[in-house]
Amino acid sequence: MRIGILGGGQLARMLIASSYRYGYTFKVLTGDINSSASKVTNEVFCGDFNDEQDVLKFSNDCDVITLENEFINYKILESLEKSGKKLYPSSNCIKLIQDKYFQKENLVKSGIPVADYIKVETENDILKFAEKYEYPVVLKTRTMGYDGKGNFLIKSESEIKTAVEELSKRGKLMCEQFINFEKEIAIQITRSVSGEIKIYPLVETIQKNHICHIVKYSEDLFEKEIEISAKKIAEKIVNDIDYTGTMGIEMFFRNNNELLVNELAPRVHNTGHYTIETSKTSQFENHNRAILGLPLGDVSMNTKSAVMINIIGERNGKAEIKGLDKLLKKENVYLHDYSKNEVKTGRKMGHITVLDNDLNSALNTANESLSEISI
Ligand SMILES: Nc1ncnc2c1ncn2[C@@H]1O[C@H](COP(=O)(O)OP(=O)(O)OP(=O)(O)O)[C@@H](O)[C@H]1O
Ligand SMILES: [Mg+2]
Repeated sequence: MRIGILGGGQLARMLIASSYRYGYTFKVLTGDINSSASKVTNEVFCGDFNDEQDVLKFSNDCDVITLENEFINYKILESLEKSGKKLYPSSNCIKLIQDKYFQKENLVKSGIPVADYIKVETENDILKFAEKYEYPVVLKTRTMGYDGKGNFLIKSESEIKTAVEELSKRGKLMCEQFINFEKEIAIQITRSVSGEIKIYPLVETIQKNHICHIVKYSEDLFEKEIEISAKKIAEKIVNDIDYTGTMGIEMFFRNNNELLVNELAPRVHNTGHYTIETSKTSQFENHNRAILGLPLGDVSMNTKSAVMINIIGERNGKAEIKGLDKLLKKENVYLHDYSKNEVKTGRKMGHITVLDNDLNSALNTANESLSEISI
């Protein structure tokens, strides 16, 4: 089996690492010969995933194609399907998700709770929306947003003009009601070609500078009813769009026990990296199983608590790992270095997962480990 992955970042790398023991061959399409995933497979096709010819050529000898980001023009993915290739998730799923406005329209159609939103064509649209919901409101680019790049928190009428000028360089806009959430949470779900579903636990996520910083799991972090509601929402989302693969779903949790879906990621997701060590089958392995039409693996947990902390670049230059020996002396602490050649401020360079019986103790170990390592 030859699995083609559009993209060569850390998500592709971990998809490969999770399943090569089954004898599959993984091939990546990347613009960077030294990408994170290029370091773990010798089948590297250098090209652009937004170039139709590159994508078709790349896919020629692949049995199934998948992707590690949602920024590939769905029309190219449609061509790929028309050429007879198996692609999961499908171009239709990517089309419904890659534009955040269409994504929200579709969620509402499925009866999923979301923050109120509008399509923005003029500054006046924002003014009217803010009159209804009061400031602040969140202006977002409809496509290509990640790590908060593409969001602008508008705190008063006087900021509308700047926000629109700033963001419209990046594309079409939408505006959302600001949600004063108690917690940000996430859940991973895998659905296979056959419709089989496995759902990972609900986790709490903490962002720093709009980037995922910490993910917390504990058996008793959420009331059972909340976890059940979140799982029902996740199941409805993937079934309604006939989704295949692992999906990451970000949600807001409000103090009146209300869940609102913030956004969907049609791929394996940063908030599910902890599953590599905590789950009998990780989000990555189950993604591969799902797209190959194989039975999904058990997702039960082998720890009471876990914390994942991201290693984010704090300088620009050549990447170099320091502090590894200190970290390797610790028990139940797992380091992942994505092997990126260059470190950049704000770039995801790796992560650490800590398993513990106690969540606070896991959190302390994670913070301590992060302070001892640098990449
Ligand atoms: N409507 C909202 N109300 C309150 N906070 C919000 C809202 N929308 C986004 N945020 C905050 O901004 C963060 C980033 O927003 P969002 O997830 O839409 O952006 P992104 O850049 O596409 O995401 P990612 O960081 O997952 O790549 C959220 O995690 C949340 O903290
Ligand atoms: Mg997000």
